[in-house]
Order: sequence, then structure tokens, then C-alpha cells
Amino acid sequence: MNLPAIIARAYFALDAALDAAIAPSYTAFGYRLRRALLWDERDLDVDLSGRVVAITGGNSGIGYATAQALAQRRATVFLLVRNPDRGEAARRQLLIDTRNPHIYVETLDLSSLDSVRGCVARLRAQANRLNVLINNAGAEYRTRQVTADGLEASFATNVLGMFALTQGLRPLLAAAAPSRVINVSSGGMYTAKLDVNDLQFERKPFNNLAAYAQNKRAQVMLTELWAAFWRADGIRVNAMHPGWVDTPIVQAGLPTFRKVLGRLLRTPEQGADTIVWLAAAKRIESITGEFWFDRRERPKHKTGRTRNPIEDYRALWDTCLRLTTRS
Ligand SMILES: NC(=O)c1ccc[n+]([C@@H]2O[C@H](COP(=O)([O-])OP(=O)(O)OC[C@H]3O[C@@H](n4cnc5c(N)ncnc54)[C@H](OP(=O)(O)O)[C@@H]3O)[C@@H](O)[C@H]2O)c1
Repeated sequence: MNLPAIIARAYFALDAALDAAIAPSYTAFGYRLRRALLWDERDLDVDLSGRVVAITGGNSGIGYATAQALAQRRATVFLLVRNPDRGEAARRQLLIDTRNPHIYVETLDLSSLDSVRGCVARLRAQANRLNVLINNAGAEYRTRQVTADGLEASFATNVLGMFALTQGLRPLLAAAAPSRVINVSSGGMYTAKLDVNDLQFERKPFNNLAAYAQNKRAQVMLTELWAAFWRADGIRVNAMHPGWVDTPIVQAGLPTFRKVLGRLLRTPEQGADTIVWLAAAKRIESITGEFWFDRRERPKHKTGRTRNPIEDYRALWDTCLRLTTRS
């Protein structure tokens, strides 16, 4: 083995050891170390003029930082946001920050299937293609709540709304092939095996963190299914997790965790890096169905106990289709 190959192997072994340690890996420390040792900065030296990107939750946190990085690279960016005023404020800020005039806002409440359908219809009327869809928006609910559609709110927002949006935008993604879908999951999904018999916590007591982890596992399973189903259409579908990032979802949902980690938390820009890389880097154009963190493929499971059999994948898909298809 030659010297560069030995050095590369040593770096990758260090990276894997860091990832196994979780805490240093998920913080800003892991980001800085990997950036210094492993990444090729030229990967993001790209001009995205003419590429159309849609980002859910593009008004805040990781979504805003992603929108900013892609707008800086001249992409046309649709911010899909639930609050039009916050969306408009983000658009104005992006115009100032990036001087890219091709930034648009569309209203989308992922917890409402009517809202998702409306957003899909408007996007399909305005754009003839979509190069990148970033399913970034996410929510964590303290208690079990039921939406106007009669669904448990975290499942409705994090899983079903994302499913309906992605399915609805498939024609636009196919028209732009090779196109990319990026699903923003969470390292929390490593704790979960999906309970396909109780996706909405109807039979067991509701637990906010368990519900969130279940939703994030479901996102990874849907990623695997879409990757397989849409491979022939040239639509590449990947999932990722951003590490631990100082954003409103953490500020509201995990205040003690935030206090303890303090400045060790990643910035939104650091959390967004792998999303931007998956959206823009040329070298990953043909890769699909994988789970990423800090610009590297990661295992989808850390223990065999979280693996679902193939029948569970089918059950998840069938449930999502049934609940999103109007009778
Ligand atoms: N921060 C972390 O450490 C961390 C770790 C792992 C995974 N993640 C994931 O990263 C993604 C981005 O989160 P963030 O950390 O950037 O937090 P954030 O700043 O709170 O962003 C969450 C975004 O989701 C939007 N959203 C929530 N419910 C929605 C709904 N019903 N319909 C449409 N949009 C909705 C929010 O809109 P509003 O502004 O209107 O509330 C906001 O734009 C999420 O999927 C989260 O689960 C974050």
C-alpha cells in the first residue's frame, strides 16, 4: 500500500472511531476535525445556476442555512414554510445575504394533507422541474396531539406530510433527472425500530422522544423505498443527520441538553453542510438509498435490534399510501 492510501485509511479509521463515540462526533468538534482532515473543499465549488431547489422549513435553523448556501451558489430556491410572514422575512434576508433574486416562498403546513396538496399544485403550476427536494422541516410535540385530519401530529408532520409532498413532486423530480431528494433525519433514529402496528401511538403511551425517533426511523425507511422505486427515473434519494445543532427545535424541546452542551453545539451552517454537499456535490450524483453524516455514508443501524423485516417496509408504505390517498 502506498503512503497516501495508508494515510487515507488512517483518517477513515479515525472518522469511524469518532462516530462510534457519538458525543464528540455530533458536536462542533467532530465537524471541525472532519473538515480539517477529510473533506475536499472543492466539492462545493459549484455554480447551481438554473437548478431548482425546494426546502421545507427553509425559514429557520438548518433549513435557512441550507437555503443560504444554495442561494449563494445561484440556485433558484423555493422556501416551503408554514408561516408566510416568517417565510417572507427569510426571503428578504436571503436576498440581502446572497443577492440572488431567484428566491420564492410557498406556504406548506406538513401536518395538513390539504395544505400539502395545495403546495404541490402551486409548485407544479410554477416550475417545470425540480432538481433537488430537501425534506428538512421537522417538529417535536411534547404531548400527543391530533391534527384536523385526525392523525397524531408528529407522525402527520414528520412522516405523512413529507410522504405526500415527495410523492406529489415526483413528476417535477423526474423531469429534472438526475435529481436528488434529501431527507433530514436524526441520529435519534438509531434508538428506534419502527413499530408499524402503532405508528401513531394509539396503543402505547405517548412519549415525545420515542415518537420523534420513530418518525426519523420511518424517514430512513422511506428513503430506502423511494431509492429503489425511483432509481429507473433517475431520482436519487438519500437521508442524513446533521449532528447536534443549536436551533429553535433544540432550544424549545431540549433546553437542559442545550445548556449542558452550550457552545459545543454545531451552528446551523455546520448542521447544514452535509445537506448542501448532498444537494450540490458532483461526486455523489449516482448514489442513492444511503444514510449520511458529515459527508460520509453511515450505517443505518448500530444494533441488529432496530432492523425491521421487509414486511414492515411494505406495511409502512401501504399505510402512507392509504392515508394520503383520497377515497
Ligand atoms: N437541531 C438539531 O440538533 C437536530 C438534530 C437532528 C435532526 N434535526 C432535524 O433537522 C431538521 C431542521 O430542524 P432545525 O434543527 O433547523 O430546527 P428549526 O429551526 O426549529 O426548524 C424546523 C423547521 O420545521 C418547520 N416546521 C415545523 N412544523 C412544520 C409544519 N407542520 N409544516 C411545515 N414546516 C414545519 C419550522 O417552521 P416554523 O419556523 O414555522 O416553526 C422550521 O422551519 C428537522 O427535521 C429536525 O428534526 C435537528
